[in-house]
Amino acid sequence: MLNETVRERRTIRKYERRDVPEELLEGLLETAMRASTMENLQLYSVVVTRDEEMKRRLAGAHFNQPMVTEAPVVLTFCADMNRFDRWCRERGAQTGCDNLLSFVNGTIDALLLAQTFATLAEEQGLGLCYIGTTVYNPEQIIEILGLPRLVFPIATLTVGYPAEHPQQQDRLPLRGVIHHERYADYGRAEIDDIYKEKEALPESLHFMEINGKETLAQIYADIRYRREDIEAISEKLMEVMRAQGFVK
Ligand SMILES: Cc1cc2nc3c(=O)[nH]c(=O)nc-3n(C[C@H](O)[C@H](O)[C@H](O)COP(=O)(O)O)c2cc1C
Repeated sequence: MLNETVRERRTIRKYERRDVPEELLEGLLETAMRASTMENLQLYSVVVTRDEEMKRRLAGAHFNQPMVTEAPVVLTFCADMNRFDRWCRERGAQTGCDNLLSFVNGTIDALLLAQTFATLAEEQGLGLCYIGTTVYNPEQIIEILGLPRLVFPIATLTVGYPAEHPQQQDRLPLRGVIHHERYADYGRAEIDDIYKEKEALPESLHFMEINGKETLAQIYADIRYRREDIEAISEKLMEVMRAQGFVK
């Protein structure tokens, strides 16, 4: 059996009041830095938030999701081209970090660090939740955390000792996700097959019933990921990327 911790994992949104020791946190972050990184440049920074007032302010940027104030530690993983750019300039070298490619590279690096940290932390008995609203309200997080030009918040993790053991979430079957040699595009029969288990889950049927929708997909399209909302958030994201110097 492959790694039991990963196979058994689930997102944790409720935490014990117990703190996460600083040595443990630093050890996990330091080990996580062994993750692959672009050109070995480590195009990331992590802001550790433990202070109650800072957590409260951050929570506002995350639509007041309770994990942000209730977790003992909140980690904001940032794409960081600032440090590399500064290093170059201090050493009389010219680079070009103010572009979309740099943003993507920093984002990849930050996420590799975050996920390596997450896996290590879960192996140590910690529970975590990714907070996707980081890229919904980046301008607020930038202001609260004092992120300079060429630094962008990409992922937030709330971290603590689990105070819940929720049911494990479903996943699509592997056959729906992998392609051999070339991408085999999906026809109607494949879509039916890949999504049939998810659609038949009691919670899916429940959501459809309470929202008066005929299909599970309509819940995502009409309520959770409405085109107008996503487009507005997308536009704001571009604006903030521009303000942080990544897009001209
Ligand atoms: C990029 C990303 C953003 C997420 N954002 C949130 C969030 O804002 N709030 C939340 O409660 N869970 C969030 N999650 C957790 C997912 O809802 C969760 O991973 C998914 O439902 C699968 O559940 P599992 O992790 O327990 O398997 C996020 C996960 C990812 C990877």
